[in-house]
Amino acid sequence: MHLTRTLLFSLALPFLASCASSTSKPLSFGQNYAVLNLDLINGVVAPLANTTEGKKWINSTATWIDAVHAQSPPPLSIYTRIYYSSVATPELSPSIPFYQVAAAFGNLTEESPVSEIYPAFAPSSSGDDSRDVVLRKSRYYAGDGNSLEEILRTRWVEKVILSGLSTSGVLLSTAYRLFDLDYFVYVISDNTIQPSSPTTKKTILEDILPRLPVTVISLEEALEALENSGPAKW
Ligand SMILES: *[C@@H]1O[C@H](CO)[C@@H](O)[C@H](O)[C@H]1NC(C)=O
Ligand SMILES: *[C@@H]1O[C@H](CO)[C@@H](O)[C@H](O)[C@H]1NC(C)=O
Ligand SMILES: *[C@@H]1O[C@H](CO)[C@@H](O)[C@H](O)[C@H]1NC(C)=O
Repeated sequence: MHLTRTLLFSLALPFLASCASSTSKPLSFGQNYAVLNLDLINGVVAPLANTTEGKKWINSTATWIDAVHAQSPPPLSIYTRIYYSSVATPELSPSIPFYQVAAAFGNLTEESPVSEIYPAFAPSSSGDDSRDVVLRKSRYYAGDGNSLEEILRTRWVEKVILSGLSTSGVLLSTAYRLFDLDYFVYVISDNTIQPSSPTTKKTILEDILPRLPVTVISLEEALEALENSGPAKW
């Protein structure tokens, strides 16, 4: 009796273990994916750099970007910056609703330090191997007035992985638009922030986005998925 029980137990354990691992298929981004780093510019990041929440977010986002850059070959990474074609801001006027959002940043141009990517998130400059692209935009949506959609289409991207701020602005707007354009959208929860309103962030990540559905994952899950992905196609 004792022997039988021991035998049963030793047979059942590996079986149960394999059941557990086969029910959760490892997450992967496949080979046709792009990493989107949205509005990580000095003007919005620097004011958060001294807050507890901001420090955590910067560390998480930098950890992700470093891991992506360490891939061989590196996947396509697309950054967005907010700025206007000239100080006269032809893309902006007081008569449009976005003006009150933009006014906080002043007259941003390509040369404005405020609109440059925050140093901890710097795009890769590894010459010909770099698959990093930096695009200009002047509204919430990451593809506003630039070649985002053209690049995603040309490079046969199927899955996009989003980081950036704010959660209610560029992140939400871009998740909706790319979802409607038939991309599989992933949002890294640790890599987005809603300055001064964690409740808004929570509602968007836990209630709104999953309804689309957009897949919300943690940094840990994203890093694991990155390991299971690739080699990234270009
Ligand atoms: C953050 O803290 C550092 C060091 O105390 C200070 O020099 C810097 O001005 C602060 N930045 C902001 C945006 O408050
Ligand atoms: C994140 O924080 C940890 C712990 O302080 C540190 O070891 C690591 O270097 C940081 N990573 C980045 C990318 O800043
Ligand atoms: C932006 O440019 C306009 C027109 O040149 C000027 O009137 C305005 O004061 C500028 N705003 C800032 C914040 O520099």
